[in-house]
Amino acid sequence: MSRRVNVLFAAEAIAARNAELAKDIAISTQDDLLVIAVLKGSFVFAADLIRALHVAGLSPEVEFLSLSSYRDQTESSGTVRIVHDIESEVAGRDVLLVDDILESGRTLAYAKDLMAARGARRVRTCVLLEKPNKRAVSIHADLVGFVCPDLFVVGYGMDVAHAYRELPFVGVVEVDPDVAPH
Ligand code: IMP
Ligand code: MG
Repeated sequence: MSRRVNVLFAAEAIAARNAELAKDIAISTQDDLLVIAVLKGSFVFAADLIRALHVAGLSPEVEFLSLSSYRDQTESSGTVRIVHDIESEVAGRDVLLVDDILESGRTLAYAKDLMAARGARRVRTCVLLEKPNKRAVSIHADLVGFVCPDLFVVGYGMDVAHAYRELPFVGVVEVDPDVAPH
C-alpha cells in the first residue's frame, strides 16, 4: 500500500543546490578527484552530482561503497559493515565521499576512517541532507545540500523498507491518522 508523501525538498531546489555544491567542489579541487558514492541511499544524489561536476569543469572517477548500518526500524543501531567494497586504490587520491544523510554520523565516520587508513591524500565528505542534533560520533560534512528537519525522509534515492527510492523529490511519508501507532 502506498501512502501520500509530502514534498520537503523539491526536484528543482535539489537540482539548483547540486549546481552550487559542484561549483564549490570545483573551486577547491585540482584534478584526479575520486568520487565515492556510499550506497545505497546516495545513488541518485551521486548520479546528479557527478553530472553537475562535469558542468563545473571536473572529470571525476566514480566508485561505489556499499555500507550497511544495522537499523531497527528507522533508528541506526551503531554497527557499520562493508557490503560491497570499492575496486580502486585510494592511496594518494583526493577522495570525495558522497552520502544521502548525515544523522548519527557513524556511516560517514566509518567510510572516512576507512579511506584515510588506506592512505587517501585528502578525504572530504558531501551529503545531501544533514540532520542536526543527531550526532553520536564527532564528524562534520565538508559540503551539505540542505539542513533537514528531524523527520524520517524518503525519495531521491532514500527508502523506508525498500520503498520510495524512485521519487524525484525528498519527502516525508504522511502518517495515517486511522492507523494506531504500535
Ligand atoms: P548515520 O550513520 O546515523 O549517520 O545514518 C546515515 C544513514 O542512515 C544514511 O546514509 C541513510 O542511509 C540512513 N538514514 C538516516 N536517516 C534517514 C532518513 O530519514 N531516511 C532514510 N534513510 C535515512
Ligand atoms: Mg546511506
